[in-house]
Amino acid sequence: MKSTAHIKGHPLHPILVTFPIAFFIGTLLFDIMALVNDRYDFAFVASCMQIAGITTALLAAVPGIIDYIFTVPPKSSGKKRATRHGLLNVLNLVLFFVAWLLKRNPYVPAFGILLLEMAGIVLLGFAGWMGGTLVYRNQIGVFTRYAGGGKWKEERFTGNDQPIEVANSDELKTDQMKLVHVQGKRIVIGKTETGYVAFDDGCTHKGGSLAGGAMICGTVQCPWHGSQFDVNTGQLKTGPAKQGIVIYRLTEDNGKVYLHL
Ligand code: FES
Repeated sequence: MKSTAHIKGHPLHPILVTFPIAFFIGTLLFDIMALVNDRYDFAFVASCMQIAGITTALLAAVPGIIDYIFTVPPKSSGKKRATRHGLLNVLNLVLFFVAWLLKRNPYVPAFGILLLEMAGIVLLGFAGWMGGTLVYRNQIGVFTRYAGGGKWKEERFTGNDQPIEVANSDELKTDQMKLVHVQGKRIVIGKTETGYVAFDDGCTHKGGSLAGGAMICGTVQCPWHGSQFDVNTGQLKTGPAKQGIVIYRLTEDNGKVYLHL
């Protein structure tokens, strides 16, 4: 699924998270060195890195939240994973912020502060692991296009009028799809050898986005675990999904494609 917060197709969140990861690990290492060697200058560097880590973490969170809301498919296993990923990172941020505040209190032992930072790094590790799963398995921000699939297309339609004009008749080539957001639904508009089709974007297995999959010869394959559905009937062709997908009626008139909900 193509990232929403990107520059020329490159997702911003994975680029920006490298900074807080480096700064937070650096904070812990310099605080350990400061404690072991009783060096004020190391402690000062650690404090600077801590501020940089907190600032860049907040910055990295912005594209992360945008992709969480607009890219990760709703009601999916990926959404649950992304929620846990975000919460762990918030907790890590709180720990490092509290540790930074406590450094100003001479009565708090430095070892206690180190423990907070160590806990933060452990949380960062778990959050990073989940982030990796979101990218490498759930393909959040990964834009894969099969032969002839064309560019990623996504549009939002407002209003409740029926039917809804969702495409021009010549907009898609055979085996191409686009994702439309209409009346709270995510619907895929696709073109097969026999004409336009419309079906729910959410895979009935674990909610993968079918628009991010591949559609060939009237069959769409989910990118997450490979379930296949007939796009003309909605019937399940191959699991692990156990049930078919909802399809919608389309009509064509005067060079326009209309969706009936
Ligand atoms: S989410 Fe598992 S096959 Fe689609």
